[in-house]
Amino acid sequence: MKLTQEERRMLDGTYGDQVASAMVLLTKLGEAYDAEKLIDIRGAHLFAWKINGEMPGDVVLGQIEQMAGGATLRVPCTTNPVCLNPDLAERLDIPRDMAEEHGPNIAKLQQLCKNIGAIPTYSCHFHYPFQPKLGDSYALTESNVCMFANAWYGIRSNMEGDLTALAAAIVGKTPYYGMHLAANRRGRVLVRLSEDMDPYTLRTADFGAISYHAGKVIADDRIPVYDGFPQTMGPTQVKYMQPQIANTSAPLFHIVGVTPEAPTLEAAFGGKVPREAIHVGRRELIDAYERLNTTDKSAIDIIAIGCPHCTLEEIRELASLLEGRRISANLRVLIGTSSAVGALAHRMGLAHTIERAGGILLTDMCTVGILLLGLIREWNIRYVATNSACAASICAEHPAFVPGIDIRFGSTRQCVRAALTGRWEESNADE
Ligand code: F3S
Repeated sequence: MKLTQEERRMLDGTYGDQVASAMVLLTKLGEAYDAEKLIDIRGAHLFAWKINGEMPGDVVLGQIEQMAGGATLRVPCTTNPVCLNPDLAERLDIPRDMAEEHGPNIAKLQQLCKNIGAIPTYSCHFHYPFQPKLGDSYALTESNVCMFANAWYGIRSNMEGDLTALAAAIVGKTPYYGMHLAANRRGRVLVRLSEDMDPYTLRTADFGAISYHAGKVIADDRIPVYDGFPQTMGPTQVKYMQPQIANTSAPLFHIVGVTPEAPTLEAAFGGKVPREAIHVGRRELIDAYERLNTTDKSAIDIIAIGCPHCTLEEIRELASLLEGRRISANLRVLIGTSSAVGALAHRMGLAHTIERAGGILLTDMCTVGILLLGLIREWNIRYVATNSACAASICAEHPAFVPGIDIRFGSTRQCVRAALTGRWEESNADE
């Protein structure tokens, strides 16, 4: 890989040990992928690490601390949610010993973010601090953040690991390979709605189910191009189209007429003819829902909404559905979002409406993170409902990751109805 004189100085330690070790990692990464050079990045998203206390969590945190200690970030960096916001432990009824067990690692990470000057967004939705521009390069960890940013803004990022994103942020550069090259961003597989599907009646959960189905059929790193989807799709709907990642490694998808690099079908495929087409009709959609529902029981213990974190549009919808109502006793309804959106929701009275109904607004933390902390046993959780095909696919495809639970997956309205009645009911057409 060709390095500039400045980059050589970074590598030889002129700018300190931290920059040098970050450069060693980036040059090795670049050589592994045959990158010809490093390119400047505009920003990074850091710390997808979120599993505390367990071996992998401690090891990764140690590596992060080693690389970041004393370093300065050269570009603006946002941060991913932590597994538990200690400020919410009491509201969530987290047992004191569990909060104390995980607290020190979370505090360490938060202090580290402060020391290096990261912007403490603690969110898995890519937003506020950046002013993204089509074609800009970033180093983004967290699959949902990376896919959304690549697809919705047309910015360029590979799916980074904790250490490679941090190294890129310290150096302000990343190897020029993968999603940074225009030629690699071309679509490879066409995904089309069948005639029995009306695109304008699709709900956010349906977009997730379609993405999950497409990923299952593609099952490799080819980039899907969704055609025939509503031109009215906004960031909330596009945010739900990440579950392809449960079965593929493509950090990008195009929606013709919606995502910036796909104004036309021809542009999405770079002028080439797609070799494979997948058709998604009612049968495929029903099949995806059946796979993502791992039980047919109507019992529910917990409802998790906001994976990835809710947008303000979603919080507003939830508040209007819960206005003047009461969530069923003994049922936890967790709504995950960023502190920035949470602050606006408080200012607009939306958070108050949700909390008066009995919902819990989770900020700064992973919406399903508490399930990873061992609370499944502690709270005796068996049945989890969600509108997120991403969360559902983790449980459906990797049951060992969140053992002992069954998932109910459906629309936001279906989740709210279950929250109010305490039981999961099959979907109505208007949901
Ligand atoms: Fe976000 Fe946690 Fe889902 S980090 S994408 S809420 S698994």
